Amino acid sequence: MREVTDERLGTQKSYVNFETIAIRTQTDRTQHREHSTPIFPTSSFVFDDAEQMRALFADEQEGNIYSRFTNPSVREFEEKMALLEGVEDAVATATGMAAVFASFLAFLKSGDHLLASKAVFGSSYTIITQYLPKWGISFDWLPTDTAQWQALVKPNTKMLFLETPSNPGLDVIDLAFTGQFCKHNSLIFNIDNCFATPYLQQPARFGADLISHSATKWIDGQGRVLGGVVAGNKALIAEVKKLCRSTGPSLSPFNAWVLSKSLETLAVRMDRHCENALLLAQFLEQNGGSSTPSSTRTRCQPLRSNK
Ligand SMILES: Cc1ncc(COP(=O)(O)O)c(C=O)c1O
Repeated sequence: MREVTDERLGTQKSYVNFETIAIRTQTDRTQHREHSTPIFPTSSFVFDDAEQMRALFADEQEGNIYSRFTNPSVREFEEKMALLEGVEDAVATATGMAAVFASFLAFLKSGDHLLASKAVFGSSYTIITQYLPKWGISFDWLPTDTAQWQALVKPNTKMLFLETPSNPGLDVIDLAFTGQFCKHNSLIFNIDNCFATPYLQQPARFGADLISHSATKWIDGQGRVLGGVVAGNKALIAEVKKLCRSTGPSLSPFNAWVLSKSLETLAVRMDRHCENALLLAQFLEQNGGSSTPSSTRTRCQPLRSNK
C-alpha cells in the first residue's frame, strides 16, 4: 500500500490502495479454491429452469445470459477499472476505438454538435470528421487557447471530447478548467484517458463524465491483446451498455482476463515508464544541441525547459 507523492501528481493525492484494488478486485473464488482469478471462456450460460431464464431475460433477476451482454471475466475487468478511475461503473469493449465510438453513439444524435480537441488519436479523428457528419452530427475543434472555447459553444452542443496527454504529440489540456467549462455549459465531458491511465490521472476528479481507454496500450502493456473500456456514473454507463449489448463490440473473456491480470502490475510498470521517460528526456535536453535537429524539442512536463 502506498501514496503517490505530490511531486509527480501535483495536488492529487488519493491514490492510496491503487495496487490493492488492482490486485484484490477479483471474481468470487470457485469451489476449486484457485489462487489466480478464474477465466470464463463461454459464449452463453445455462439456466436452472425456464422460469429462471424468463426472469433473467425480463431483468427481474441479475445474472449472466450471454457473453455479448455480460461475462464474469469481463465484469471483473470492468469493476476494477471503475474502482481505479474512482467512478461507479464501466463497460468493456473489444478495442479502444469501440469504446470511443460507443461513448459518442450512446449520447449523440442527428442535429447535435460536438466540441473536440484537435490532437486526438487518428481513428478518433476519422470518426469525428468522416462518420459523425454523415449522421448529422457536426463538430468544431477546440483551439489550444481555452479563452476561445466559449465562443464555440452552440445551443445544440452536447458533448466535449478530448484526449490528454494526446497520442502521439503529448499535448496536455487543463482538466480543472475543462471540468468547470463543461459544467457551466451543461456538456457531457468525455475524455480518452489512454495515455495517462488511472494510475497517473483520474479525470472524474475534475468532473469528467465519460472516461474511455484503449486497454491495448499501457493497461495490457505487453502487446498481447486488444481491449477498451468506458467508465462513468451508473446512469451514463447504463446507456453505453445498452448500446453495446445490441451492437456487439464485446470484449472476449480471454482478453478481459489478460487485461485484469495486467492491471495488477500497472502501478509498477507506470512508475518505471515515468522514470525511463524522464531519464531519456533529460538526456535529449542535455545533448539535443549536437545530436538532434534544431527544430526538435523534447516534450516532458518535469523538464526545466518545459516549465
Ligand atoms: C489515445 C488512443 N485512443 C484510442 C486508441 C485506439 O485503441 P485500439 O487500438 O485499442 O482500438 C489508441 C490506440 O493507439 C490510442 O492511443
